[in-house]
Amino acid sequence: MREYWIKDRSLAERGRKRIAWSETQMPVLVEIRRRFSKEKPLRNIRVGACLHITTDTGVLMKTLAAGGAELYLCASNPLSTQDDVAAALVEEGVHVYAFRGQSEEEYYRCLGYVIASKPMITMDDGADLISTIHKLRYGIRTRELDYFKDIVNGMDFEELVNGIVGGSEETTTGVIRLKALAREKKLLYPVIAVNDAESKRLFDNPIGTGQSALDGIVRATNTLLAGRDAVVVGFGNVGSGIAYRLRGMGARVTVVEVDPIKALKAVMDGFNVEPMSKAARHGDLFITATGNINVIRREHFEAMRDGAILANAGHFNVEISVRDLEEISIRKERISDCIMRYVLRDGRKLYLLAEGRLVNLACAEGHPSEVMDMSFSLQALSARYLVENRGKLPRDVLRVPEEIDREVASLKLEAMGIEVERLTDEQKRYLSSWTLGT
Ligand code: NAD
Ligand code: ADE
Repeated sequence: MREYWIKDRSLAERGRKRIAWSETQMPVLVEIRRRFSKEKPLRNIRVGACLHITTDTGVLMKTLAAGGAELYLCASNPLSTQDDVAAALVEEGVHVYAFRGQSEEEYYRCLGYVIASKPMITMDDGADLISTIHKLRYGIRTRELDYFKDIVNGMDFEELVNGIVGGSEETTTGVIRLKALAREKKLLYPVIAVNDAESKRLFDNPIGTGQSALDGIVRATNTLLAGRDAVVVGFGNVGSGIAYRLRGMGARVTVVEVDPIKALKAVMDGFNVEPMSKAARHGDLFITATGNINVIRREHFEAMRDGAILANAGHFNVEISVRDLEEISIRKERISDCIMRYVLRDGRKLYLLAEGRLVNLACAEGHPSEVMDMSFSLQALSARYLVENRGKLPRDVLRVPEEIDREVASLKLEAMGIEVERLTDEQKRYLSSWTLGT
């Protein structure tokens, strides 16, 4: 089988330097690497990872390798791979199958190579690797599987699944897919929902995406955010982070939400809240962050102002209906790597960023390393936990153990030089008593 499939191995030196820079911003993961180097908790473990290939992923791969793992890595999005990082990781001995700008067929062939490596741990961002393994095991035929059938030809998928110790999942959309699999009682091995850990969800989703989505939009368009009539669709962990940061940059922000509690929170936080049908008429920048399908579609495009910019921060490129946009346009013109102009019949122009794929990773470099420090420390410690508890965990979507979650937060605070208050014995007794009152 192919050792690797990347764009250009000569980019490795640039990738190596940029990974080294990220390392300086990821003290927790570097500390975990130090421990892994001594303890080798992943000795003889093949890890198959399907992640956005950024400098931070580079630091994670080096950490898992220090723990003794053999690594097979493909991209979790056709547009998010940083080719210099992929090259640097090949030099480090990681089997990387990824390059920026993959076709659908290339994307799935790369997944096929990772599956053919017979991973013992799967690490996903969006659940494409694990869902593909399940489809193979259950004999569910889809077009995507045809793309790589020659690569996995002759494999025994029952044996493959039996050899898998467990998996982990990085993002909300992936966890939703896995819970659907578990609900149908079809999940074949334990999976840790890294996304749902407090030290991930409260920082990576709102703060990481909040900053990096705006970074992607600004890098792509160099547009002024101050004074913009911005519409954020979805006020969950990600959308709320984007909305606060847009407001901080001087934009006038409207929130579109379906959940009454989230919508009420947005109102009480001072945002304008409207349905999409109304927001579509006045917004000049739209950002989706719902994890849902077709939240901006034909009827909304038809109501939009000339010049509106459309960007997505949710995991898949399904939130803005590109198909509808194509159907109502008389032509499209590429303005730059990240911007496509759609010209509608009446001459209005709409600008779609990154083909509707996640703007922070396709038009910028994803979250800053400081925040990935926590997310990827959770990934590394979850991998160790899966190996330590091999054969003992249920075939379900599992929480990151609280000790790991708190350890990551504590290590981060320590690295930041911040000391926290400690409970006294009296306070501990008070907090665990029901007899003490007024
Ligand atoms: P979340 O569940 O906290 O928030 C999603 C929100 O969207 C919810 O409040 C929901 O009510 C709302 N929503 C659903 N359908 C809607 C609709 N039609 N109109 C308006 N609102 C709607 O999830 P999250 O953690 O915020 O994640 C959102 C998406 O972002 C997911 O796809 C996730 O995987 C992805 N994500 C991306 C990045 C990134 O780097 N770009 C990082 C983290 C998460
Ligand atoms: N997801 C969001 N930001 C990321 C980053 N910098 N690296 C890997 N995955 C990410």
